[in-house]
Amino acid sequence: MLLSRTATMAKTIWFLLVTLLFLFASAAAADTQIKVTNNPADKLVAELNNNRTAHKASALYDNPGLACLALQYIKAYEGDCKAVGGPNGKKPADSQFAETFAPNCGIQASTLSQITGRLLGCQSEYLHASEAFSQTLIRNSKSLDILYSKNHTEVGAAVSGTDGGSPYFWCVLFSSGKPNSTFVFEGGVPKLSKPGCFSGANDECSGAHDWSQPSLVWSFGATALIALGYVLGL
Ligand SMILES: *[C@@H]1O[C@H](CO)[C@@H](O)[C@H](O)[C@H]1NC(C)=O
Ligand SMILES: *[C@@H]1O[C@H](CO)[C@@H](O)[C@H](O)[C@H]1NC(C)=O
Ligand SMILES: *[C@@H]1O[C@H](CO)[C@@H](O)[C@H](O)[C@H]1NC(C)=O
Repeated sequence: MLLSRTATMAKTIWFLLVTLLFLFASAAAADTQIKVTNNPADKLVAELNNNRTAHKASALYDNPGLACLALQYIKAYEGDCKAVGGPNGKKPADSQFAETFAPNCGIQASTLSQITGRLLGCQSEYLHASEAFSQTLIRNSKSLDILYSKNHTEVGAAVSGTDGGSPYFWCVLFSSGKPNSTFVFEGGVPKLSKPGCFSGANDECSGAHDWSQPSLVWSFGATALIALGYVLGL
């Protein structure tokens, strides 16, 4: 009796393992096919464009060069959250774009274009893109005006980038430049700079923590746990 029960259980476990392996493999295959970027900066741009189109403004082109500049913009704060907004708010000088941000990104200086708006936020805990958008970046009617402005044609977003941990900075830069011919990388290839993530480069990137990156491993682990619970419950 006990023996046959053990045998049934072993069979069940074997069956579950095979099923899991199959699921895991097909999930991995789907992942490469769909090519969803697991990048919080891309998610922020998607959120922002959804919000703009719902407001009858145009969706903006996600320019990786502009987004790389947004990450440099964050780095200029050297992790000083208090320097963002408020009475002691500071912002990098406009000249920094040509002098340091563009060279650090490998962007051709001649392709820099006008910045028509910026949204910047910082907080000590990590938020997901949609929360960062509604709670940190869009706080008042002034930021809504910037969001909905008809002057923008393109956008670039970046998250964090000081040491990869807290505090978390989010930056969105808007421009009125021609999407394809502005903020162009030398050689045409985005120069990725870690830590931090920026949008538009088709880059798998986890904004802040390594924990958010292996989402596949996570879902696999969760499935395994559920399966384990199921087996034990027999
Ligand atoms: C757009 O974002 C603002 C600020 O978060 C929010 O109040 C508004 O409901 C959003 N609109 C849509 C259509 O999602
Ligand atoms: C759009 O651009 C015009 C001309 O540069 C400027 O006067 C206006 O304030 C801008 N609008 C917004 C919402 O930034
Ligand atoms: C702009 O970029 C897109 C995507 O890379 C490309 O398909 C299109 O041909 C480009 N347009 C121009 C005018 O260069």
